[in-house]
Amino acid sequence: MEKKLLITGGAGFMGSHFIRYILEKYENYQITNLDKLTYAGNLDNLADIEKNFSNRYQFIKGDITQEGDVNKALKQEVDIIVNFAAETHVDRSILEPKSFLLTDIVGTYNLLEAVRLGKANKIIQISTDEVFGQIKQGEFFEDSPFLPNSPYSAAKASADLFCRAYWKTYQIPVIVVHSCNYYGTHQYPEKLIPLFITNLLEEKDIPIYGDGEQVREWIFTEDYCQALDLIMHYGKIGESYNIGTGQRKKNKEVAELILKFMNKDKSYIKYVKDRPGHDFRYAINSDKLRKQFNWKPQVEFEQGLAKTIVWYENNEDWWKKLKNGDYLEYYKKQYNALDKN
Ligand code: NAD
Ligand code: DAU
Repeated sequence: MEKKLLITGGAGFMGSHFIRYILEKYENYQITNLDKLTYAGNLDNLADIEKNFSNRYQFIKGDITQEGDVNKALKQEVDIIVNFAAETHVDRSILEPKSFLLTDIVGTYNLLEAVRLGKANKIIQISTDEVFGQIKQGEFFEDSPFLPNSPYSAAKASADLFCRAYWKTYQIPVIVVHSCNYYGTHQYPEKLIPLFITNLLEEKDIPIYGDGEQVREWIFTEDYCQALDLIMHYGKIGESYNIGTGQRKKNKEVAELILKFMNKDKSYIKYVKDRPGHDFRYAINSDKLRKQFNWKPQVEFEQGLAKTIVWYENNEDWWKKLKNGDYLEYYKKQYNALDKN
């Protein structure tokens, strides 16, 4: 049966991977991609899709905070909305929280309203493990309390609470997905892994915040897309699902692996001032997903990291133009300014 999907934020990192995954897997699916094209939105990510799937894919430039743009994308009723659109970078949220409030909360509200008005049959809200805050030991479960520590995670948590409330109050068909850190090709080079790889390709230092002991859990793009596909089709309405791999690494271990794979020594590591409110450790329990759908991640971290490095090595045209402003210097100066206030 033919299905119509609206993907928001599909010009970003994971959104573009998911669009490709779905169009390649399901021959009868149509996708509309609504994206504002912020600094993180990049039509280069979709060039092959525009070419190979022109009959089943359309792009609309638009902003989910604008009701008119959402209505335009939903002129024809859709089966499923998958909301990837968000401001996503924690450092930016510390310095400029307002755009996070608007996109991540108001934008999600507009989409929920559209579902309430019957313009879509289901909405999948793409969220993060960061809503649960940090955990020194053990793991977050689907019903762990929300204790967000950054403006980014507070905005994502607020959106998730709206999803819950819209389910409880109006019974709109919504599923929320909390995932650990993504990595892979086409990730904007401000996030840890692509920043470190591209810095090393430019013979620059790699800045580790604080002591580098913080732990993140990592999932490769393909594994994430497979998990989301299952949840989107078969997940229970009104519930939430964690997506995790158990592949947990200290930031300095990630840095050391990248150095090893790129044949560089540790002299490139520079310990810098810590991120304010830096979460020490995330660890997410994904037994619910694994048991319900017999899902498990296929890609080992070392294997995915090696593939990612090769892609950045071969795709300088893609990332070089994104690294024109020295935003790290910018963050450093801004954080120092925060200290003085
Ligand atoms: P990204 O930053 O690479 O891309 C975000 C996309 O959203 C961009 O294309 C941007 O143009 C678009 N966008 C931003 N504001 C918009 C607006 N107002 N209207 C329409 N489009 C808008 O994103 P990503 O890192 O791939 O993350 C995608 C989603 O997954 C986000 O919701 C994020 O919170 C969530 N998430 C990310 C990670 C991660 O490790 N990156 C982990 C867990 C969850
Ligand atoms: O956990 C899921 C989240 O992962 C997503 O919801 C966010 O959208 C995504 O940005 C990511 O947040 P993090 O803060 O974990 O990712 P980031 O790549 O910014 O940082 C990863 C870790 O590396 C974190 O502990 C901070 C540290 N770091 C980051 C940068 C950019 C450094 O030590 N140096 C750096 O230069």
